[in-house]
Amino acid sequence: MRKKVTVVGAGNVGATTAQRIFDKGYADVVLVDIVDGLPQGKALDMLESGPILNSDSSIIGTNEYDDTSNSDVVVITSGLARKPGMTRDDLLLTNKKIVSSVTEQISSRSPNSIIIVVTNPLDAMAQQVQKVSGFNKSQVIGMAGILDTARFRTFLAEELNVSVESVSAFVLGGHGDTMVPVVGNTTVGGTPISKLITEERLEEIVQRTRDGGAEIVSYLKTGSAYYAPSASIVQMVESIIFDKKDILPCTTYLDGEYGISGLYVGVPVKLGANGVEEIIEFDLNKEELSALRKSADAVKELIEIMDKDD
Ligand code: NAI
Ligand code: 2OP
Repeated sequence: MRKKVTVVGAGNVGATTAQRIFDKGYADVVLVDIVDGLPQGKALDMLESGPILNSDSSIIGTNEYDDTSNSDVVVITSGLARKPGMTRDDLLLTNKKIVSSVTEQISSRSPNSIIIVVTNPLDAMAQQVQKVSGFNKSQVIGMAGILDTARFRTFLAEELNVSVESVSAFVLGGHGDTMVPVVGNTTVGGTPISKLITEERLEEIVQRTRDGGAEIVSYLKTGSAYYAPSASIVQMVESIIFDKKDILPCTTYLDGEYGISGLYVGVPVKLGANGVEEIIEFDLNKEELSALRKSADAVKELIEIMDKDD
């Protein structure tokens, strides 16, 4: 039997994620949105591409959460996206309400699911979903590090004129201006990046990575990125439903790892059928560790604002 994946939010990120999963044909998809007709229309359109793509998966669009019951994986993308001039943090309290109500609907109907949170500000929303669902912390994971890392790898591959596959890197920390591209672990075909690029040029590429989301927003003007984000989500979905145990940078609950406690922050995790199966502790240098903790402090500030709003 195929696995069941629910995607909440039929906007740019949600619909593209549903499409990528449907196209591959390995899971049945339920696409949910609050807007009447939007998920139904998009899902039917995708279903009708099945004969061309050889996908026998089912995909339905709905406004009813009963259709999501017993999902194996739930992806939450519902909420506002930023517009030019807005930071991800500007979305905090509005998206908190949206994500909380969605989580109540989802968690009672799919109590054994793994939830992938995507809505921004990402780290704070992941923490909120875990709180509202009451799920085990390993069952609630945020997507951001794979996207930030993909941007970093893209820019490095372009710079050095090599395949993206030859660039190995991890971007950790919160999904915001304080994210931490771990330069010490970045290699190209096994050679440390510091031997291939000057420090100044590397800093420019690191900064472009930090600004990667804003760069897309400045072009699109009416919304934010969704092709690379949806590809990142699908990498997580596949690691979970195929129990691949990929080591990927994801936002997870830290309980003392890296000296951080009680917060969702991006770090390398082993992702399998049970969600986060292990948190991997890299040997970070002093500056990287301090940048990661600073990034965690920025997430903490958002959690405090949300707590005051309760
Ligand atoms: P979008 O505006 O295209 O889609 C959002 C959808 O959510 C809309 O269709 C809307 O009707 C729906 N929605 C709103 N309230 C809802 C509710 N209560 N129940 C169900 N559906 C509801 O936005 P887009 O581009 O898809 O982005 C979605 C979110 O993902 C944003 O918060 C964005 O910032 C975030 N994002 C996060 C990334 C990450 O790396 N974590 C990457 C890209 C986007
Ligand atoms: C991004 O980084 C919007 O957070 C999203 O593109």
